[in-house]
Amino acid sequence: MCGILGYTGNRQASEILLNGLAKLEYRGYDSAGLAVMNDGKIMIEKNKGRLQTLREKINNGKNILGTCGIGHTRWATHGEPSDTNAHPLWSDDLSVVAVHNGIVENYKDLKLKLTEHGYKFYSQTDTEAAVKLIDYFYKQNKNPLNAITEAIKNIEGSYCFVLLFKDFPDEVWGVRKDNPLIAGQGEGESFLASDVSAILQDTRKVYYLDNMEIVKLNKGDVRFYDSEGHAVYKKLSTVTWDSQAAEKGGFEHFMMKEIHEQAKAVKDTLHSVIKNNKIDLTDVNLNSDEIKNISQIYIIACGSAYHAGVVAQYVIEDLAKIPVRVELASEFRYRNMPLEKNSLAIIISQSGETADTLAAMRLAKNNNIKTLAIVNVVGSTIAREADKVFYTLAGPEIAVATTKAYSAQLIACYILAVEFAKVLNRIDDEKYLYLIDELNKLPEKIDEVLDEKERIKELAGSFVDSEGAFYLGRNIDYAAAMEGSLKMKEISYIHSEACAAGEMKHGPISLIERGMLIVGIMTQKNLYAKTASNMIEAKSRGGFLLSVITRGSEILREESNFIFYVPEIDDHFSASLAVIPLQLLGYYVAVARKLDVDKPRNLAKSVTVE
Ligand code: G6P
Repeated sequence: MCGILGYTGNRQASEILLNGLAKLEYRGYDSAGLAVMNDGKIMIEKNKGRLQTLREKINNGKNILGTCGIGHTRWATHGEPSDTNAHPLWSDDLSVVAVHNGIVENYKDLKLKLTEHGYKFYSQTDTEAAVKLIDYFYKQNKNPLNAITEAIKNIEGSYCFVLLFKDFPDEVWGVRKDNPLIAGQGEGESFLASDVSAILQDTRKVYYLDNMEIVKLNKGDVRFYDSEGHAVYKKLSTVTWDSQAAEKGGFEHFMMKEIHEQAKAVKDTLHSVIKNNKIDLTDVNLNSDEIKNISQIYIIACGSAYHAGVVAQYVIEDLAKIPVRVELASEFRYRNMPLEKNSLAIIISQSGETADTLAAMRLAKNNNIKTLAIVNVVGSTIAREADKVFYTLAGPEIAVATTKAYSAQLIACYILAVEFAKVLNRIDDEKYLYLIDELNKLPEKIDEVLDEKERIKELAGSFVDSEGAFYLGRNIDYAAAMEGSLKMKEISYIHSEACAAGEMKHGPISLIERGMLIVGIMTQKNLYAKTASNMIEAKSRGGFLLSVITRGSEILREESNFIFYVPEIDDHFSASLAVIPLQLLGYYVAVARKLDVDKPRNLAKSVTVE
């Protein structure tokens, strides 16, 4: 969703804001804007379109003087992308200027009430109602803290606001509810941001705000308050992420760089929990007695994280024999389903901020279900609220279409599956050691697949004008097909569908036309022949067969139009290899279509609204 930044210190705020916003553009990129205070005046610049447009307009920030300011990149919810609806938004006399991430659900009611008090509205945003509400309370006693505490009592929905008050020239204020906000502490300067990547070049010292907390920045001074306005003490943390990790490092796109970082993400995640050839979940805080008590697992997630959950379902059920249900968070939260008492909810989220996933997790907790979150972003809301956290070590992921975070999520799921199987005596020591050995081979094998990326690049050129594609597979291969298909549609805008191979004949097959791309994934030895038959059926109707098959198999050698062999690995872990050519295919088709791979239209990386 939107990217938010605040700065106060001794340097030119506009330059710092522009550089930081560039790191947050993955969160939204349909408009950009900033406001800077200088000599008792607030200067605001904003526009529809990318940050680059703003940059050019204000001469890289040089035209805007002042050392205290706020900035925003927008992913529109209320009000189309336009110069007017872009943030910051302000109260009529510019007493209060704010940027916002989230949704003010009761904005219509607020507008009505504020209109009665003489307020007028110039934008179509929900944000403007909140800004004017804060202004309304601010006018009562000119106290920013009081204005914010009073306003949040009346605002429904989710939000993070970062604000300037004209009468307080060196101060930046912030408040959050169900949307991320961190504060950074530098030497004589301080920052607010939606995520740490925006301030890493300036400081590694950060505070994580809890829900409904308020923060006040002054040059180098950061203070916190609860929703009633009482001072709160918070611990300063040091971020270990490397700021280089959020740079392109010579690759044309973040996505390609992140595809290449998958072996490292997998290795780092494995090493965090495999010690002396044994799985050690001490950091996750999960013990054998708790595992023995699990009668049902719910895996809850959105997007690619959900697809990782589908892989996990097959692996956990097969190895540990615990029943698993995988749930889309947006469905789970409104389903009102009976929940098993001794169950474990595994919540998967790269950002740890996805609104639906967070709400679903809270629902599980309210039903006394233990929650274990698999999260990439340290200190994120889901990580802080879950009973247990398994951190994936993928590092910062910038491209909107996830690759390395998904791969790291798979590892966390495999680890849980193997550990559950061991604790429940479903596998013996020999099998346990064999599975750990196979897991340790994954990083090298991922790189082996990447060595052949040029083959996929050449093939991708033929599908630049495709109108549709099918991705077929069974069991784990079906789960990998779902992720491959999503990669294709989200960045290349080619309609693509994943289909359980056996379901093709029940409808989807009618869509096959001459030359249509049919991607078949065949890594599950017991199912090779079954999926192969479905592929041949697709070929008979004109499909172009791209087969992703485990090396050594002879299947579809004659019938395929193109075969990509992935290295051998235990079948349970094959999605980690099969997904790589599929990521590459989506990437190369999008590049050949000259699309903005890292920032696909209409999408955002971190979806903090419903
Ligand atoms: C968005 C992103 C997807 C991601 C999903 C869930 O839709 O574009 O790539 O899989 O959110 O995000 P999460 O941060 O919860 O994993």
